[in-house]
Amino acid sequence: MTRSRPPAVPAAPSRGAKTLEEQLPELRPGQSVELLKELHILTREGKLNQDTRRKLKQVYHLVRFIEPLLDEVLAARGDVTLADHGAGKSYLGFILYDLFFKQRTVGRVYGVEARAELVEKSRELAERLGFDRMDFLATTVQQALSHPDLPPQIDVVTALHACDTATDDAIAFGLAKQARFMVLVPCCQAEVAGVMRQNKALSLKRSPLAELWRHPLHTREFGSQITNVLRCLQLEAHGYSVTVTELVGWEHSMKNELILARKMDHDRDASKARSRERLRQVLDELNLQVLTERFAA
Ligand SMILES: C[S@@+](CC[C@H](N)C(=O)[O-])C[C@H]1O[C@@H](n2cnc3c(N)ncnc32)[C@H](O)[C@@H]1O
Repeated sequence: MTRSRPPAVPAAPSRGAKTLEEQLPELRPGQSVELLKELHILTREGKLNQDTRRKLKQVYHLVRFIEPLLDEVLAARGDVTLADHGAGKSYLGFILYDLFFKQRTVGRVYGVEARAELVEKSRELAERLGFDRMDFLATTVQQALSHPDLPPQIDVVTALHACDTATDDAIAFGLAKQARFMVLVPCCQAEVAGVMRQNKALSLKRSPLAELWRHPLHTREFGSQITNVLRCLQLEAHGYSVTVTELVGWEHSMKNELILARKMDHDRDASKARSRERLRQVLDELNLQVLTERFAA
């Protein structure tokens, strides 16, 4: 079957009304209009859908962070694999493919998503657009670790708002697959706050920081923050250097923390040991020892 190339974002401005580029400067020439419509970023009439605008801004920001990493891997080994966890409708994977992979002959994107119906839709869309080097797996992040359709090594692991502990599973996946880079925008994680609440009585005796347990909202928010602190220490304990930054302005999203991890070329054992020790201290201090398996195994 021969596939015709999907139409690209038109460069010529129309009279009067704002052009698409003016409305959304992030759009790039050559981007597939059909893809943007399928993802409901553009309406059927080709206008910007205000409801998905926020999502698109997040994805574009993320793409800007990810492209140089893909380039770096490509330059180093002539190929690049990326696995996106909790892919949902695969906005991120599709836009990355459209902007980076489409114009190259190598590289592969894997979308990992537990909901089979979303995976089926993504497969159909990739087929329709001729995005040949995209694969979608209807599986959980945990199960993806041993999935036969995934290669033993994955260069870049991404997880954008993968629910609850799926970000932790994506980190475990990245460690097992020796990922060169991990790009994570965590969703709210309830597990740590739950353990904090269970051990409330024990913790209240300890220090003035017991105030963190007084109001459930503070416990929940603190639990969410401390989860990301533990994730960063875990990555450092495995030889990654970690940067934490905002994805977009806070007015666009509450789940806005971007964790970028890069595997260091030379393992620095002393630094890894320091992070591992610090991680255990944090778990002890907050009575979170039952989470040792998750963060400090
Ligand atoms: C909030 S959505 C985000 C989707 C997408 N990454 C995005 O930003 O548009 C989270 C997605 O993760 C999926 N998910 C949650 N837990 C998962 C798990 N353990 N394994 C695989 N997918 C998971 C959900 O089905 C859902 O589609």
